[in-house]
Amino acid sequence: MNRYTIARQPRLIAGEDSLEGLPDLLHSDGRRAPAVITGGRSIRGRDQWSRLVEALMDAGLEFLECTVRGEPSPESVDAIVADIRSDLPHCDAVVAIGGGSVIDTAKAVAAGVALPADEYGGGIVRFLEGVGDTVHPGSTLPLYAVPSTAGTGSEATKNAVLSRTGAAGFKKSLRHDNFIPHTAIIDPLLQVGCPPAVTQASGLDAITQLLEVFVSRAATPVTDALAREGLRRGGSALVALMSGEESVAHRGDMALAAYFSGVGLANAGLGLVHGYASPLGARHDVPHGVVCGVLVGPVTAAVVRALAAAGEEGREGLRRYAEAAEILGVAHAGDGPVAHLAAGEALAAWLAKRAEGLGRLADYGFTAAELPELAAASGMKNTPVALDEATRTAILQEVL
Ligand SMILES: [Fe+2]
Repeated sequence: MNRYTIARQPRLIAGEDSLEGLPDLLHSDGRRAPAVITGGRSIRGRDQWSRLVEALMDAGLEFLECTVRGEPSPESVDAIVADIRSDLPHCDAVVAIGGGSVIDTAKAVAAGVALPADEYGGGIVRFLEGVGDTVHPGSTLPLYAVPSTAGTGSEATKNAVLSRTGAAGFKKSLRHDNFIPHTAIIDPLLQVGCPPAVTQASGLDAITQLLEVFVSRAATPVTDALAREGLRRGGSALVALMSGEESVAHRGDMALAAYFSGVGLANAGLGLVHGYASPLGARHDVPHGVVCGVLVGPVTAAVVRALAAAGEEGREGLRRYAEAAEILGVAHAGDGPVAHLAAGEALAAWLAKRAEGLGRLADYGFTAAELPELAAASGMKNTPVALDEATRTAILQEVL
C-alpha cells in the first residue's frame, strides 16, 4: 500500500434548506460577530437572503455585510479587510455565500483579518505564492463557505486564487492547510435557477477538476473514490441542467460533484487544463470556468494520444481516461490500449461538445501572437504524460 495523506476536510452540512441553520450554527459555535461576504445581486435578490439576515439578527449576532464583484483580486481583499477592521473590529468569523470568486475572496479576507494590522501592511499580495515576499503564518478566522454555484469546490480547498490581469498580471494562490474552510454548507436550493451560462462554465470546471484528479500522478484510493462518484453525479446532472431540466436533485448532484472535486484537487492536484488557467487568467479577463470548459476537450484529446504513443508507461493513464468515459456514459472503456484510446477520444469529443456556446479565446481578447508565450508559461501539473511546448501552443491555437 502506497503512503499518502488526505488533508483535514471542512465540517460538511448538506441538504435542502441547510442554509437556514447557519445562524444557529454560528451561535452554537460561539461566534458573535461574523463578516458576511456575498456576490451582491445573485444572492441578495433571493428570499433566502432576507430570511437569513432576519435570523442572524434574531440570533443576536453583530454582523457586517460585504460585497465582492468580479474575479478575486488583492485589491478587493484589501478593501474588505480594511472595512472589517474599521466597522467590525471584533469580527470572529467569516461567512461566504456565493460562487468560487466570493469564497476565494472570503478565504483570503479571513486570513488577512486574522493578522495584526502591522503584519498585514503592504496587503495580501505580499503572501501570494510566486509574487509575494513572505509566507503567511496560517492564522485565520473560521470560514463558513456556502457555494451558490457548482464549480471550483473552493468550499473544500486550502487555497484562494487571486489575480491581476494585463501584461504584468498574475493569477496566484494564497495557500495554507489552515485555510480549508471550517464549515461548508451545500444547500441545493441556493443553486436552483443559476443562469445556464454560469451552470455550464462552473460545471465544466468541476468536471475538469474531477477528471484531472482521477488521472493525476498523485491520485490516491480516496481521491479516486471521490472522482468516480463526482463524475457519475456531475456528468449526468450537467447534461440534464444544460438541456433545461431544472431540478433540486440535479443541483444537489452537481453541488456534490463540485465539492468532491475540491477535496480531490486539494489532495491529488490538477493537470494541464489548470496549468493553462493561471497564465491565461492573468493575461485577460476570462472566467476560470470558461478557460477550463474551452480547453478540456482539446487537452484530453492531446493527452490520450500522447499516452497511447508512450506505450507501457502510458497504459494506466489511458485506462483511467477510458474509465472516466464509461462513468460519464460516453463510451465503453473496453479492454486494452486500442479500446482505451478510442474511449478517451470519445471522451474528448464529448467534453468539446459540452463547451459549445462558451466562445473562443479570441472572444476574451487573446491574440495568436501571445499564444506561444502563454503555452510556455503553462505547466503540466500532475498530468500523466508531458506535452511539449509546440503541442501546448497548438492546443491554444485550436481554441483561439
Ligand atoms: Fe478549476
